[in-house]
Amino acid sequence: MAASNYELKVCAGPDELAAKSALAIARTASECIRHRGTFTLVLAGGSTPRRTYELLARGEGEHSIDWSRVFLFFGDERFVPHDDPRSNYRLAHDTLLSIAPIGGEQVLAVDTALPTPAASAADYSDRVAKFFAQPRGTLPAFDMVLLGLGDDGHTASLFPGAAALKVHDQIATWSPPGVLPPPVDRITLTMPVLNAAHQVLFLVSGAGKADVLAEVLSGKARIEDHPAAGVHPKAGRVSWLVDQEAAARLPQKTSE
Ligand code: 6PG
Repeated sequence: MAASNYELKVCAGPDELAAKSALAIARTASECIRHRGTFTLVLAGGSTPRRTYELLARGEGEHSIDWSRVFLFFGDERFVPHDDPRSNYRLAHDTLLSIAPIGGEQVLAVDTALPTPAASAADYSDRVAKFFAQPRGTLPAFDMVLLGLGDDGHTASLFPGAAALKVHDQIATWSPPGVLPPPVDRITLTMPVLNAAHQVLFLVSGAGKADVLAEVLSGKARIEDHPAAGVHPKAGRVSWLVDQEAAARLPQKTSE
């Protein structure tokens, strides 16, 4: 990924990261709603987005969103019941969906009650395709995709060296566990779908991400080893919102 293809903002710490990301999401939402009447947002899993979702749910001041126009999706999901503590749906439910006035048809969750992760991925692909009602074979273009960065360079559930990285003809696919916990099968949006987004916002926090962030932003990372380096939408923008600890290994010029 060429160094010029992304915007980087370094925040003081997790609280500022949450506030700035909630602001970016709310502003993008209002712009999309103004121009197109709706806002399609893909939620990230993991732990980093927790505070961001809580701020969006509270909806104070510039974080307020017209939820009646919003449709939420999941970038990836663990193949566990939605009430399982490891579920990304559970994270979204506890911090956002159970508080903000949104629900029902507006939230397209991955159905993890189907018999296999493959069936779950196929079902999710069908429902996303139906939502966008696009001709077969065209990719859904989400307004905004939130992503995290794993210590191993994965994003969503696209793990280094995984077969899922090579799936280019599906909206979603499934993957066996990566090296990082939890060791459960995953369902994930595919790389082409991430790259069809109008905007991608990475949220990265903590000293544990410093090495991998520097590698991914170096422009030299191989997608096979660091899948997050493969995210650069052809017609979209990539923004990295990181905190100072995560930015510690970035060359001075990119972390200004
Ligand atoms: C997941 C996530 C995953 C996550 C990164 C970062 O299901 O685990 O979607 O891609 O975003 O692993 O996780 P943290 O935010 O917990 O560091």
